[in-house]
Amino acid sequence: MCGIVGYIGHRDAYPIIIKGLKRLEYRGYDSAGLVLYDGADLKMSKTKGKVSDLELKAEKEGTTIGKVGMGHTRWATHGVPNDVNSHPHFSNSGKLVIIHNGIIENYEPLKIELIKRGYVFKSDTDTEVLINLIEEVKKKENCKLGKAVQIALNQVVGAYAIAVIDVEKPDEIVVARLGSPLALGIGENEYFIASDASPFIEYTSNAIYLEDEEMAIVRLNKPIKIRKIKDDSLVDPYIQELQMNLEQIEKGGYDHFMLKEIYEQPSVIKDTYRGRLLVDQGIIRMAGVEDNLEKFTNAKRIVIIACGTSWHAGLVAEYIIEEFARIPVEVEYASEFRYRNPIINKDDVVIAISQSGETADTLAAIKLAKEKGAFVFGVCNVVGSSISRETQAGAYTHAGPEIGVASTKAFTTQITVLTMLALRLAKAKGTMPNSEYQRYLLELELIPKKVEEALQTTNEAAKAIAAIYKDSPNCLYLGRGYNFPVALEGALKLKEISYIHAEGYPAAEMKHGPIALIDESMPVIVIAPNKGHYDKVVSNIQEIKSRSGKIIAIVTKGDTQVKALADHVIEIPETTEALTPLLTTIPLQLLSYHIAVMRGCNVDQPRNLAKSVTVE
Ligand code: AGP
Ligand code: GLU
Repeated sequence: MCGIVGYIGHRDAYPIIIKGLKRLEYRGYDSAGLVLYDGADLKMSKTKGKVSDLELKAEKEGTTIGKVGMGHTRWATHGVPNDVNSHPHFSNSGKLVIIHNGIIENYEPLKIELIKRGYVFKSDTDTEVLINLIEEVKKKENCKLGKAVQIALNQVVGAYAIAVIDVEKPDEIVVARLGSPLALGIGENEYFIASDASPFIEYTSNAIYLEDEEMAIVRLNKPIKIRKIKDDSLVDPYIQELQMNLEQIEKGGYDHFMLKEIYEQPSVIKDTYRGRLLVDQGIIRMAGVEDNLEKFTNAKRIVIIACGTSWHAGLVAEYIIEEFARIPVEVEYASEFRYRNPIINKDDVVIAISQSGETADTLAAIKLAKEKGAFVFGVCNVVGSSISRETQAGAYTHAGPEIGVASTKAFTTQITVLTMLALRLAKAKGTMPNSEYQRYLLELELIPKKVEEALQTTNEAAKAIAAIYKDSPNCLYLGRGYNFPVALEGALKLKEISYIHAEGYPAAEMKHGPIALIDESMPVIVIAPNKGHYDKVVSNIQEIKSRSGKIIAIVTKGDTQVKALADHVIEIPETTEALTPLLTTIPLQLLSYHIAVMRGCNVDQPRNLAKSVTVE
């Protein structure tokens, strides 16, 4: 995820680009850059850091002149955040320049081919490969930039929102999108390009949102023509009059970043398995795992270290990795692990999970594990973060920036990465029949659609239930097996944004004490998909019911047995048992969100909390 801004028209482009990038920093903020056509040449400034750092550098370098230009605030996916990897990126000839939001999955084979043809690369990004592919096509086909972009994009697999300028035709900007958003602001003899409307909303409320697989050549004094990338066919542009204000645009029209991030989960789960879950080839391929496969397959034990929600993802991974790959897994709070002189053997593999990649306890635990000789693998959401640099290998979640303090999309993308890891290890160790392995690949590919369905079908029920229980002083969450960690996660979500005391337990654990808490004032959320020990969960529900507990059950669509017992049910789509956490967590996120809103809590910045706990 990142922010792109472009301008072509009668105003100075620089202030529009800088202000626009500042408004898009919520989409990515590890580095930034801009390029302007100053009437003679393309001038660029770019830097690691915030847009404010870019502003200082651009003004120092004099990159402020011109009425055509574009800028980028980055959320790195390929290549750590530094000056060289920041956007824009020039082609080898220096004539073409690009900014890009997204991931080019097949950048490696394309890069190898371009190197064979004499191209050299300054950066480690997938984006620089794309601009040189466009240049190679332009040269080979002897065609204009628009055509070259179209031909090149038909060779690309991945997601993109791009803007490209040719210094030899500086009165136009070529744009295209697939999987990443791109809006065109239509002004009076001026055009704006951006990831969302926030950079241009004060100049024009007329916008065209490109659809997937569409491109356009934005040219002064010419109407916008939109074409299909695949076959160059023309598309009627749909200009809409925007009613949103700035704040609403940044939140994508949602009231809070947390809700926006809950609804981003289908697309970011897809981004996370993009280029790794290769169903048509019947394989999973993760670079960090492939390069260290033997360490994993020879591991006598995997120790997972994390905090908070990431620790809950680790617990889900314990069930999945042990079930699939038959490797013993232990999950530890990083804060406990680092102080108890843990036993770590040379053939142990440690997996560190962290959204921010900056959590102090997790970072310290990693250093301790390394001192004791373990191989440490990181699962982080921030490229170039401290933890991603401290670990010897890793796999990024591609959740994009998570602004809401309560972690949601990070949790489901962490589970996505860890499920792919477990499947890859099962394949390598031969602990799963290929037929079952293929079934998992197919089901994992269906998950984004099922998450989308869960979002659409459970929100209203969650909201109605929230209205009933928003003033409960306590709440219990119960789950079994793969969904015990989801019970813990659901309780954490409620606690941290609504300040209601909530606890998660293994469903069977109720009988060992907590059941004493049950009475008519205690809402009990029971995660009861029709998989695993469903009948045991039904018995637990009956135990609660016989003590007048209020039962809110998360069930598989079409369930009747639990429905007959519970006070409320929320139905989710069916999936295989090991993947149910990716769906059962959705209504729990929505329930905690609505309760917090109804209680007037600060959903995105709950009291006492920080997004990244960089202190001990
Ligand atoms: C989760 O909603 C909380 N914000 C918190 O528990 C968080 O998961 C924890 O601090 C770990 O953060 P990390 O994933 O960035 O390491
Ligand atoms: N994949 C590109 C990079 O890593 C773009 C990332 C983004 O969308 O910010 O530079």
